[in-house]
Amino acid sequence: MDMTNSFKFSCSPEVIYGENSVLKLPETVKKFKGKRLLMVVDPGFSAQEAFSKITGLLANEKVDFRVFDKIAGEPSTSTGDDCASFGRSEGCDIVCGIGGGSALDTAKAASVLITNGGSVRDYQGLDKVPGPGLPKIMIPTTAGTGSEVTFTAVFIRKDEKKKGGINSPFLFPDAAILDPCLTVSLPPAVTASTGLDALCHAVESFLSKKSTFMSRPVSLYAIKLIWDNLPAAWEDGSNIQARSCMLYGSFLAGIGLANAGVTAVHSISYPLGGVYGVPHGIGNGLLLPYVLGFEKDEIAPDIAMVYDYVNRGVSSSDSGYKAERFIEGIRGFLERFSIPGLRKFNVDPSSFQQLAKDALQVAVPIANNPVPVTEKDIIDIYSRAY
Ligand SMILES: [Fe+2]
Repeated sequence: MDMTNSFKFSCSPEVIYGENSVLKLPETVKKFKGKRLLMVVDPGFSAQEAFSKITGLLANEKVDFRVFDKIAGEPSTSTGDDCASFGRSEGCDIVCGIGGGSALDTAKAASVLITNGGSVRDYQGLDKVPGPGLPKIMIPTTAGTGSEVTFTAVFIRKDEKKKGGINSPFLFPDAAILDPCLTVSLPPAVTASTGLDALCHAVESFLSKKSTFMSRPVSLYAIKLIWDNLPAAWEDGSNIQARSCMLYGSFLAGIGLANAGVTAVHSISYPLGGVYGVPHGIGNGLLLPYVLGFEKDEIAPDIAMVYDYVNRGVSSSDSGYKAERFIEGIRGFLERFSIPGLRKFNVDPSSFQQLAKDALQVAVPIANNPVPVTEKDIIDIYSRAY
């Protein structure tokens, strides 16, 4: 790495981490002088006792709030628009997202739509949001997207069957509350899919052409935390040590993503989600070994560095061997978590060429990839992952 390169590094300004840190929500709302809080919540979480405790806490501390939980799966552009019009009509002046990436992304978009007007579609792309949003506090209940620390919110344009991100510095959360206790009730399948997404953020941001000597150690430590703790969190959801490491790991992976970007894995996965509904984390996870396999000969020393960090004590100096072992380790995760190939999602091989064209349109991550990727390379990757 060229240590003379200049860089900029960003992170949510306030990070509150620890068991039961969600108790700090009322004082955080007051700190931002919020008068009425728009709570954007995953419907699965809003039905849980943990959410009743949070709303009870807000009521006790006399924080006025409204709840929006009409989020079905990965959000569409109309989900974001509906949430914003609800918040606007209720006179909310501060936003809190609680849940997985869908709730957090919807909350982030609502915050800028309420102040700027317009609809999600107006702002999908890069730097299209004209001005700041309402203050936003993010509370992840999965360890996956890292949305609590990124400047992106992703929405599906249903008519086009395409996903698109709003990417703007005005989407950066003002505060992130990381409470591992909120993640213990996640079922194993969600732990696996969100954890694999976090692993992809960490690995891709580490290998990204835009990585810096500040982002790389963050991404590397994120990989280590996820590598060591995802199986334990999947095995026993109540393992608070593993849950804590996963939540912190996915947060660090989000910082890596926000500062160095993701790479080809995310670009190649996006069309699978848009056209065939392959869940984001699963799509990324199942593609990761094939994308690394495609590029390993050219970046073996970098992958070997990751392997050395996650597997102390291997004496080989052969970087190609280590890169291969790392990829094998990822395959081991996929097998253990019963992640199927693309065939199981009814992906039609005759659509690979169109999917590959669409993947190339997800241009920023493709441009970050350490090795150039062509349409033919992507078709090969889909075929191997089938
Ligand atoms: Fe992701």
